[in-house]
Amino acid sequence: MEPEKIFFEIHSNLPREGPGNAASSIKALEALTDLPPSPRILDVGCGPGEQTLLLAEKTGGRVVAVDTHDPFLEVLKEKADRVGLGDQIQTENQSMSELRFPDGSFDLIWSEGAIYVMGFEEGLKAWKPLLAPGGYLAVTHISWFDENPPDEPRKFWEEAYPAIRTVEENLAILTRLGYTEVAHFPLPEAAWWDEYYNPMEQRITELREKYRNDSGALSVLSGEYREIELFRKYSDCYGYAFFVMRKAD
Ligand SMILES: C[S@@+](CC[C@H](N)C(=O)[O-])C[C@H]1O[C@@H](n2cnc3c(N)ncnc32)[C@H](O)[C@@H]1O
Repeated sequence: MEPEKIFFEIHSNLPREGPGNAASSIKALEALTDLPPSPRILDVGCGPGEQTLLLAEKTGGRVVAVDTHDPFLEVLKEKADRVGLGDQIQTENQSMSELRFPDGSFDLIWSEGAIYVMGFEEGLKAWKPLLAPGGYLAVTHISWFDENPPDEPRKFWEEAYPAIRTVEENLAILTRLGYTEVAHFPLPEAAWWDEYYNPMEQRITELREKYRNDSGALSVLSGEYREIELFRKYSDCYGYAFFVMRKAD
């Protein structure tokens, strides 16, 4: 079985595709005190779209949700229609690195757990022109909470995402790129377990049984499991932080 197929078998029909929860999204939204009524919102790397639904519901605005994996977009569309938010949510298969929208199109750009695909700095740079003057950008991003992390997580992240920085370094990056910080806070551990790692761990257990004679598949499953174990051990030294900022120039 090809590694990519196994990866998507692990990552299908999970409530979320990254750490996050409604309480954290609401806390970030509440920091946007100057958001206009019915804001125009772009949700980048929306995945199955739990946060997209919340944004539409809480702001009453229109949300364009983009992702490159069609099955996630289909799941989101179906959920949006089911809960009566279909008219407010438009899904589009677009890559975050080549977004096709006119400059100044959005009052708010939102991205939970996806900016790592481009890199924090590159994403912040690329998306800024799409914001209206004074528009907001809110992202969650993997960050060190400890300036001197132990070897095991340091080595893991040097391979998985070498551009990982401390929260303070990420704040300095956003300021340098012409944003003003509005708020930042770490996601609680529950935001990793409840809707992401717990269901994922359960899925890995089922797939280990299904692919017990497929060494390639088992190796992908072990890699994913290792990430969960690492967080169990070292959640005090890294995690996701919400960075809420505003276009300053
Ligand atoms: C970790 S998941 C987060 C999904 C969702 N925001 C959540 O929190 O559940 C990252 C998402 O980015 C999407 N993605 C990967 N590469 C992308 C790209 N180049 N452009 C847009 N989305 C991309 C993936 O398909 C996936 O849905």
